[in-house]
Amino acid sequence: MKDKIIIPFDVQTRDEFDYLLKELSGTATFAKVGMELFYRFGPNIIEDLKQHNFKIFLDLKLHDIPNTVHHACKVLGEMEVDILNVHSSGGSEMMQAAREGFKLSHKNGLLIGVTQLTSTTQKIMNSELNISGSVEDSVLSLANMTKESGLDGVVCSAKEVQTIKTALGKDFKCITPGIRPLNYQKDDQKRIMTPTEAIQAGSDYLVIGRPITKADSPKEAYLKILKDISHE
Ligand code: C5P
Repeated sequence: MKDKIIIPFDVQTRDEFDYLLKELSGTATFAKVGMELFYRFGPNIIEDLKQHNFKIFLDLKLHDIPNTVHHACKVLGEMEVDILNVHSSGGSEMMQAAREGFKLSHKNGLLIGVTQLTSTTQKIMNSELNISGSVEDSVLSLANMTKESGLDGVVCSAKEVQTIKTALGKDFKCITPGIRPLNYQKDDQKRIMTPTEAIQAGSDYLVIGRPITKADSPKEAYLKILKDISHE
């Protein structure tokens, strides 16, 4: 169960990073490195986390021409990250190129597609991006293309997991942010589920940030969530 909880190290300073690392090392097992952390501290940050036995989800959401993404995925694969992601909206040729690049350097990592960002509303999607229909329809269609391109799964809302698994099979991975324990504030997340609900819905990995990282004791908050989902 421990590997199902991925903690985003969304911090701005080295001191904050070191504090979280110290709190969670030896307890939690999976860290998410996003753009802010990677661009500020570079690839060494991945080594620092690995030395504390963390698995790594490198959340860089690549989106460029197929050749560029191919080479970028190969370089990132050499860092032996456990999960890497690209934007599904880059299209199937880009995703196939990403997959080939990633698998050239890293046989065991998971390559995941980002469908619609949770910040994209139906209004933005219809009137600014010129994509018709509902967000859910677009997520399912992008997930379908992601699977056909040979990727291992998608990042999606826990509310979409059942539909995606029913359509694309239970082995197609669903990584879900927007997780909030009962009685915890929503922050800026809109479509939330509790950790237990997300596990029941079939989510493979829960990305849980502020409820853990901003708690008085991140370690205690993590262990409480782990206990809750372990009863499932
Ligand atoms: O603090 P919180 O639990 O909201 O953190 C969620 C993490 O998941 C953040 O790092 C955020 O960038 C990321 N994420 C998200 N929604 C997506 C994709 C990634 O919240 N659709």
